[in-house]
Amino acid sequence: MLLSSSACAWRSCSSTVACLAPAAVSSVSSASSNAMRSTSSSVSVTHPMAAALRVLALDQQPLRRSSSSIAALTTITNAGFTLAKAGSLISAEALTLRIRVRGIVGSITNVTRAMSSTTAEASTNTSGQHDKKQSEQPPPRIVGFWLLGISVLTFATVVMGGVTRLTESGLSMVTWHPVHERPPSSEAGWEEEFEKYKQFPEYKMINKHMTLDEFKRIWYMEYSHRMFGRAVGAFFALPALAFMAKGWVPKSLRPRLLAIGCLIGFQGLLGWYMVKSGLDENLLQDRAVPRVSQYRLSAHLISAFVIYALTLWHGLNAIDRNVPFVTSDRRIKLLRAMAKGSVALVFLTAMSGAFVAGLDAGLVYNSFPKMADKWIPDDLLVLKPTIRNFFENVTTVQFDHRILGMTTLATLSAVFVYARKLDLPRRAKAGAHAMAGMALVQVTLGITTLLMLVPVPLAAAHQAGSLTLLTFAMYFLHTIRKAAVVL
Ligand code: HEM
Repeated sequence: MLLSSSACAWRSCSSTVACLAPAAVSSVSSASSNAMRSTSSSVSVTHPMAAALRVLALDQQPLRRSSSSIAALTTITNAGFTLAKAGSLISAEALTLRIRVRGIVGSITNVTRAMSSTTAEASTNTSGQHDKKQSEQPPPRIVGFWLLGISVLTFATVVMGGVTRLTESGLSMVTWHPVHERPPSSEAGWEEEFEKYKQFPEYKMINKHMTLDEFKRIWYMEYSHRMFGRAVGAFFALPALAFMAKGWVPKSLRPRLLAIGCLIGFQGLLGWYMVKSGLDENLLQDRAVPRVSQYRLSAHLISAFVIYALTLWHGLNAIDRNVPFVTSDRRIKLLRAMAKGSVALVFLTAMSGAFVAGLDAGLVYNSFPKMADKWIPDDLLVLKPTIRNFFENVTTVQFDHRILGMTTLATLSAVFVYARKLDLPRRAKAGAHAMAGMALVQVTLGITTLLMLVPVPLAAAHQAGSLTLLTFAMYFLHTIRKAAVVL
């Protein structure tokens, strides 16, 4: 309604604009942001004036909430001023919508940019792929909070999985069923379960003196991890179906939710596939202690990280109501590329950490920065073919992880320094701060874990730290994906 009025106003005559502007403003003030979005997206805007007003309507809500949109607001206000001057019709007060604006500078450049970007946006509404995205309703925020809830639950499940591994509890349950798994209800039941465990290598090789109570402890640890995994599945699937039935999930999000759902199911299978490698005597022949395959453990961890990252990203998208800012500023483009690289680097370092964990490679070369008084250890590439060293040689795996960890710290610090130079919105600055600070904490945790021969609380904190670092890196990327430099 707002758009059609504005567009019509422009076409008819300036006095009509004068009449319609306050109406538009009051309509903006009273309508909810969702309503505005739906109205605006369905109408094709043809004139810069209408386009500028459209931005005004779209941005009003986020601008109240976040200083990140201050540049867009300044731009809009500038557009308003210039237009007001040109036609002497629209009052500055009406256009600023009583929102506090940092600096009101009548810059022709900004006006042009506001108009050209919104006109471009409007023109994509008429046809093409952008049209679908633009005309799609964003999901209600509850969908975003639900996805973020899944990411929190996934975080907890990953940490619990790490503690399960570190306390050597992961091979206590020797059978698996996707749904029907319950603790034995009687002492006889526990004895039976313990007998099953005794048939497998872990008991035979290292736990011969284990009591039933000790067995119960490790069994409950593994059981809790499995139950957390199931909770992720249930908490995902049931609301997903309900939200889809209610039509709250936009079309573009549906295949992604399906992919996440499949990944969660696959994660359960992968977990059991991993555990099986620690139960199979044939697979354990060349190992001093029973341990799951480092390949399967890494796959299980990577898959968990992917579930976490996807739910976090889409959750952030769904709760964020800021309008994407179209910028041609090459500094922002560079910063975005750097932020993407940071996320990728954190991910890669975490994956190399999974191999350190899978091979217990934190129990060798417990010194830093040198490894046994050498910068480059002798047995770095002893396995043949050479490629095997990167996945099977404890020295190489630890060496790689150190290098990647330090490179991640250096890169994230550089991104932070670069971001500081730009006049970014506050939330983007906070994201960069958190990311660089957490990188330092994470590296400190990693080094301490190594020097202290992998104590459970420190190693668990290091694992949780990797997800926290990924969170901050993704949050930072998210803020600059949608934000602008304040010019
Ligand atoms: C940004 C930097 C880093 C990230 C993102 C990272 C991430 C990880 C991850 C995800 C794991 C696997 C944890 C598990 O599955 O239990 C791990 C393990 C490990 N990391 Fe790091 N790490 C970083 C830096 C470092 C550094 C600099 C060191 C030491 C020099 C280090 C030492 C270790 C050790 C010893 C383990 C094995 C702990 C275990 O057995 O549970 N990390 N790391």
